[in-house]
Amino acid sequence: MVEGSEAEAARALLRWYAEMGVDEAVAPSPADLYSWTRADPGSAPRIETVRAAPEPEAAAVEPAALSTDEAIKAAETAAVACKSFEELEAAVKAFEGCPLKAGAKNTVFTDGVPGADLLVIGEAPGRDEDLLGKPFVGRAGQLLDRMLAAISRSRTENVLISNVIFWRPPANRTPTALETAVCRPFVDRLIEITDPKAVLIAGGAPLQALLGLTGIMRARGVWREIETMGGKRYPALPTYHPAFLLRQPAGKRLAWADLQSLNARLKEH
Ligand code: URA
Repeated sequence: MVEGSEAEAARALLRWYAEMGVDEAVAPSPADLYSWTRADPGSAPRIETVRAAPEPEAAAVEPAALSTDEAIKAAETAAVACKSFEELEAAVKAFEGCPLKAGAKNTVFTDGVPGADLLVIGEAPGRDEDLLGKPFVGRAGQLLDRMLAAISRSRTENVLISNVIFWRPPANRTPTALETAVCRPFVDRLIEITDPKAVLIAGGAPLQALLGLTGIMRARGVWREIETMGGKRYPALPTYHPAFLLRQPAGKRLAWADLQSLNARLKEH
C-alpha cells in the first residue's frame, strides 16, 4: 500500500510521463515493481527486463514504400487536384505516403469552420487528438480555446484549426523535416482553399515547417508571410505553442500581446 506523499509522487510521475507522451506500456507483460525491494535483490532482474525492453513507441519509423521524394511528389499531385475542402480532407485521409500513418489510430485533419478568416496551425496530433481524430483536444487544446476566446474566437464559430502533420508521431516526438515536407503540400492546399486573412503559427515546429525559421522566442510576435506551393502569400503570425505555455505560464504575457496583434490585423479589413 502506497500512502501520502509517496502516492502523490507516484501520481506526479505518471502525469509527467503522460505529458511526455509515454502513455502506453512498452514491456510485453506487466511488471509488479512492488514485489521487488532492495532487500530482495533476487527479483531485481525483472526491473532490468523492463529497462532493457525496446521502446517501439519511440523507435524510428520504418521508411514507407515510397522514397521521400516520391512521397512529396505524390502529395503535391494529390493536393493540387483538390478543388474543395471536402476533396482535400478525403485526399489527406487516403494518402499513404507518410510513414507516421502506420502507427496512428486516426488521421487528424482539421477542426472548426472551413473558410473562417483565422487559421491556426500547430505541430502534430498527440495522444488525445489521435484517439478522437481532431486537432488540439487535449490540455494544450483547452488552453488554445481559452486563448482564442480572449479575442472572441472559437472553433464552433470563426476559427479553423489544423497541424503541419496529420498523424501522431511516436511518443509525441517532434516531427522530422522529411515528415513535414511530405505533409506540406496538403497544408499549403488547405491554406489556399480556406483562404484565411491570417494564419496563427503555434510553436517552433510549424514555424520551421511553414517559414523555414528556427527560434520561436525571437520569431514570435513578428508578422511574416507564408508562401504556398501555388505561389500565394498569406499573413502569418508565429506565437508560443499552448503546450509551452502550460509549462511556462510566464510566456502568456507575450502570447497575449501576439493575440492582440492578431485581433487587430483581423479587424483591419
Ligand atoms: N499539439 C499540437 O501541436 N497539435 C495538436 O493537435 C495537439 C497538440
